[in-house]
Order: sequence, then C-alpha cells, then structure tokens
Amino acid sequence: MIIKSLGYLGFNSEKLDEWVDFGTRVVGLQLYERSDDVLTFRMDERQQRIIVRRAPPDTGWSGWEVEDAAALEVLRVRLTDNYVPWTELDTQALALRGVCAGISFSDPAGNRHEAFHGANIVPAPFVPGRPISGFRTGDHGLGHVVYQTPALVKLQAFFEGVLGFGLSDYFYEPVSVAFFHVNARHHSLALAQTPNSAIHHVMFELNQLDDVGQGYDVARAEPGRVAVTLGRHINDLMTSYYVRSPDGFLIECGWGGRSIDVDEWEPFELAYGPSLWGHDREWPSKEAEQEADAIRDKAREDGLRLPVQVAKGNYNAGYEPLAWWEQNRRKSLPEIRADAAEADAAE
Ligand SMILES: [Fe+2]
Repeated sequence: MIIKSLGYLGFNSEKLDEWVDFGTRVVGLQLYERSDDVLTFRMDERQQRIIVRRAPPDTGWSGWEVEDAAALEVLRVRLTDNYVPWTELDTQALALRGVCAGISFSDPAGNRHEAFHGANIVPAPFVPGRPISGFRTGDHGLGHVVYQTPALVKLQAFFEGVLGFGLSDYFYEPVSVAFFHVNARHHSLALAQTPNSAIHHVMFELNQLDDVGQGYDVARAEPGRVAVTLGRHINDLMTSYYVRSPDGFLIECGWGGRSIDVDEWEPFELAYGPSLWGHDREWPSKEAEQEADAIRDKAREDGLRLPVQVAKGNYNAGYEPLAWWEQNRRKSLPEIRADAAEADAAE
C-alpha cells in the first residue's frame, strides 16, 4: 500500500489553553511545543503526533505517512493523474510537523490531507501527561480518524481508488459506516454517512486495559466530558470510551485493538454493530438510537463472544479454558438446550 499509516493529525482551534489541559490530563499526551498560536503533542518517540493551531475550527488535517521520497513521488503522480490538485508543504510547515517532505491535498468532501515521509525522532523519551503505559503506535500508526460525510460513496472511491486504502468491513444500520485499513490496524480511517461534514472522532490506543479504566475515571469526574460510555467494538474489538474534545469532536481512548492480515483480508458486511456491549451514545435520532440498541441487544441475546486481543507483557494466562465453554462456544443457547434435552432423553 502506498500509504503506510496515519502519522499525525492537525486540528484548528481557538481553545489552545483548554487543549493543553485536555491533551495532557485527560488523554495523557505529552505537550511538546507551545507558542501563542500552536501546540504540538507527542505520543511516542516522534517529535509530534498531534498539532493544534489557532484558527477557526474545521475538520483539520490528517497526515498520512509514506515510505520514502520515491513513494511520495508516486503519490504526487497518482494525484495528478486523478486530477487532484496538491501543493508542497513549505519549510515552515515541514519544521512544525518534523518531517522531511510532504504535500497537501483535499478529498472530494473538502477535508484536508497531507502525505509525508521522514518523521523526526526526538532523543528525549516520551513523557506522558499522566501516568499511563503509553500509546500503541509504531507500524499501526497513531490510531484512527472517522469523518462524517454526506458523500460516503464518493469519498470511498477516493480513498480506495486514488489513495489505495483497503476496505475492512461496513454496516448500513443504524447509519452507514465503512472502515478502511492501510496496515495491520483494523481501520485507520472510517467514513460515516451523515447530513454534514465533520470529524466524528479520533482514536488513540493505549497499551494496557487499566490505562483505559483509569482514564475513564478521570473523564467521568468532569460533568459532560464522557460522550460515549465504556463498551467494546464489534469489528476492531477495541474496549473504549469517548470523551468530548475542547472543539466538540470526540476522542476515543481504547485498548485491545485487533491486528489483521492485510494480504488475506476480505471485506464483508457486519452482521452486528457497532458494539458488542456498552458504548451508550447520542444518535442522530430517536429511531437510530432504538435501532442501535436493538442491534446491540441481538449480539447479547445471541451470546456473541470475541477474543480479547492482548500483547506480550500485558497478560498472564490464569487458568485452563473452561471445558463446558470449549465444548459449547460455537452453539447458541437453543442448541445447548436441545443437546441437554437429547442427553437427558438418552439416559
Ligand atoms: Fe473508533
């Protein structure tokens, strides 16, 4: 894939002081640079992963990483061939982003994107804003970004056809959402069909489940901060909650995201979604909320269970799998009842 990962995100905001407090104390980012007009935050060894610039808020910009100068040139040609105008990032823009080279362009909905290579690594170690075990980035990129758009089909054609994103999966109810990957992260981008264009949310993945639980406690201490309650997603298997950023769009803080095999992956329509449990949220309408509740209830009533995704060092296997569960894990409750009745009758 020409795009390797979601490398950084930029937001325009008039609320820089609020972002300092929110970014460090609520999310756990490291404030790295601060001037009257710009903030940069670190999440790992890189100079920055998040930039907040003083300007009227809009959908910001997403920074997509490519391998090297040759890959960036391939992308320039591809954009030109598809009649997508692009401009080079100037020296000042490159310095702020801490990258060797980059270009800027827009998607068909007008959301701004950048493509770059050569991210600067800072010698000083990452120091989180509050005690967390760190963010899962690396080859998986910084997380994911989700745009609301009235033009899902048009945007999907752009991201798949021009930028080479891979479709992971999708659902149509209670609203249409499509998920796209550029690496092993289940999705680095999602598009949700809505009447307006906006950033819906940005996801940061933490290394340990307790980071998410403790962050949830921090967020719940502030009235109105939590926008979506703790829950688990059906497709990327993330256990997460969502908080309101100073500019209203949401930040999802999650743990346990799924890694996929990009070469083997086949996109499909999700039978459930978006959540296995939890994730109470405000939907665009009462009907959508009822529909979402009904889909979630069905996952519970069907006894849907999906494996927890763990990393070396953050789990201990505590006991042997339960024999009853091992024998019955693929069966529905009516099937288990029928098997039990059959066994009873045989005795
Ligand atoms: Fe998400």
